[in-house]
Amino acid sequence: MPTETVYGLAANALDPLACTAVYALKGRPADNPLIVHVWDLGHAQTLARTDSRAEQLAGDFWPGPLTLVLERKDGLGTVALRAPVHPVARQLIWLSERPLAAPSANLSGRPSPTTAQHVAEDLGGTPVLILDGGPSAFGLESTVVDLTKNPAAILRPGAVSAEALAAYGVEASASGSRPPSPGTRYRHYRPRVPLVVLVDGARGRAADALGPWARDLSSRGEVVACLAVGAGLPEGVLGRSFPSVEAMATGLFAAFRELENEASVIVVAAPGAEGLGRAIRDRLWRAAGGVFRTAGEPVQPELERGD
Ligand code: TXA
Ligand code: MG
Repeated sequence: MPTETVYGLAANALDPLACTAVYALKGRPADNPLIVHVWDLGHAQTLARTDSRAEQLAGDFWPGPLTLVLERKDGLGTVALRAPVHPVARQLIWLSERPLAAPSANLSGRPSPTTAQHVAEDLGGTPVLILDGGPSAFGLESTVVDLTKNPAAILRPGAVSAEALAAYGVEASASGSRPPSPGTRYRHYRPRVPLVVLVDGARGRAADALGPWARDLSSRGEVVACLAVGAGLPEGVLGRSFPSVEAMATGLFAAFRELENEASVIVVAAPGAEGLGRAIRDRLWRAAGGVFRTAGEPVQPELERGD
């Protein structure tokens, strides 16, 4: 099903066999729980206990790209819940009259799908029905907030910014004893070609380092593609300059899927960590296998080829 964030692979959340099939189709690790999509707060309360913090967040952000981790009503641990705003997702929840478990509809490890075509690429060989709701508006997954502890904290940055949640007493990142969302442990979002991520450093801006990297890699016979926000791309490279951080968020995963077919390496100038930039940097960090390069450092030509 389409959602405003990314496409989801939906199953009846109350049917263990259906949920097992979702894990099998995606090749998802069994210890990574699914987000459950509900119609509204009342629907959420059939599954989970809510307090005034949860009710206020749901009241202000639902339907929309905010996922709340809450204690299950049956006492069996926690559940992550969100009410999507995409009209097709809402229709599906309404007509099926049940909560829908739905992870992103990509094969585990691949960039999340933001069009029906992406879903077909990853899951087209399997018996799934794809509802085409057009390209996803946000292009990045929902923000996951843990409300089972005090203070509440962001477990996965996403389409709702940390700044917007700070006003509700939600901490920007899980610290100390609280592990981040299980899903954030895994290698994720990876294009099929090596990815180099450049961040601002004391000796330069990320976008200024694109040129040296592109020239060096090209001279070694690589076909280079670059992604940046609001900066000109080096001459002779493939890729895109997005007009805004929001546009990069919307187009990042689609760009990975496009450019992995045309380039042998993708070099991204990461945006700053403000607003949606925080979620973009989180996805880039994972997609690049946990490596950022600082602008101004010497170009390092060894590329990590996928596993
Ligand atoms: O925007 C989204 O959230 C999309 C669309 C389809 O709604 N869904 C999505 O699902 O991104 P998925 O499965 O790719 O990511 C779910 C994230 C994972 O990081 C998972 O570990 C975390 O939510 N999660 C799920 N249940 C949790 C729980 N009970 N406690 C902590 N984290 C949880
Ligand atoms: Mg996912």
